[in-house]
Amino acid sequence: MQTIIGTDIQEAASFLERDEVVAIPTETVYGLAGNALHDIAVAKIYAAKNRPAFNPLIIHVSGIDQITKYAELDEISAKLASAFMPGPLTLLLPKKTTVPDITTAGSSKVAIRVPNHSLTQELLRSISFPLAAPSANPSGYISPTMATHVYQGLHGKIPYILDGGPTTIGVESTIAEVGTDHILLHRTGGIDELQLEAISGLPVRIPQDEAIPETPGQLKSHYAPHTPLLRGEVDRLIQAHANKKIAVISFSKMYAGKNITSYPLSTNGSLPEAANQLFATLRKIDALAFDIILAEYFPTEGIGAAINDRIGRAQAEYRR
Ligand code: TXA
Ligand code: MG
Repeated sequence: MQTIIGTDIQEAASFLERDEVVAIPTETVYGLAGNALHDIAVAKIYAAKNRPAFNPLIIHVSGIDQITKYAELDEISAKLASAFMPGPLTLLLPKKTTVPDITTAGSSKVAIRVPNHSLTQELLRSISFPLAAPSANPSGYISPTMATHVYQGLHGKIPYILDGGPTTIGVESTIAEVGTDHILLHRTGGIDELQLEAISGLPVRIPQDEAIPETPGQLKSHYAPHTPLLRGEVDRLIQAHANKKIAVISFSKMYAGKNITSYPLSTNGSLPEAANQLFATLRKIDALAFDIILAEYFPTEGIGAAINDRIGRAQAEYRR
């Protein structure tokens, strides 16, 4: 199959109407989209990504008004939706029967979000169905933040990539679920804990047992580059790996040495910029012949929590 990269919304819509899958830009990462209400289209998403069938997909809709077609929306979830959608928040909600079981991998809950990207907004408004879309990477690899990343991983497997330029946030959406007296934070992302607490008036809790995640995609090892990655106190790690060709991922500091190349994610110390650069930098390093990637811990405020989470998952692969 030939894979075209383009900006033609009509063409993207016409593939989707024929139950084909199309990569779409969002503000977080690129998604691999198909008609969320058609088993055939959803099955093609799982196949193209080589995604395990037990891992459910997020449904993308054009606006908050569309959510109740597919899910029950309680009062606090509705408040979070008004505050943060369109935007990098996914809500986990009780599913309505309009959503086929294959889309949620048999779960009675459905994950829904409203992407904040003009091309994809226009696309969603031009079709009559919601889009199921996981990140547009082969299962287990780093999420794509540019159309060319999608092409590298999925060319030959999908007919069209809608090119909306580089993504503005660069890490996947926050996934939250409103509980009786708390908010469950299933995945950190562009909306942070404090923002969720401020709007909901409820404390945020992190699901504990990661070995059996409630969001099956949150397996400990994920988002992994092929090059081994270690996180910690970088000066000490450099000593321990003195004979290796090292790439360092830092917030803004430069590390020097003849076997070291530094990749500061934001030289002026901006966490949003660092988040935005993380995946593209991991891909760049992975394409070069480094023996090891050493990474700093980032400040934990705001989107820093998501940066630390993604670097941690990139590292877990090495430990296995
Ligand atoms: O930013 C994003 O959310 C991107 C863009 C494309 O929208 N999408 C994305 O999708 O990151 P994906 O499939 O790579 O990650 C979705 C996560 C997975 O961990 C999956 O297990 C979880 O959401 N999830 C989806 N539906 C669920 C459900 N019904 N119950 C529990 N977890 C669910
Ligand atoms: Mg993913």
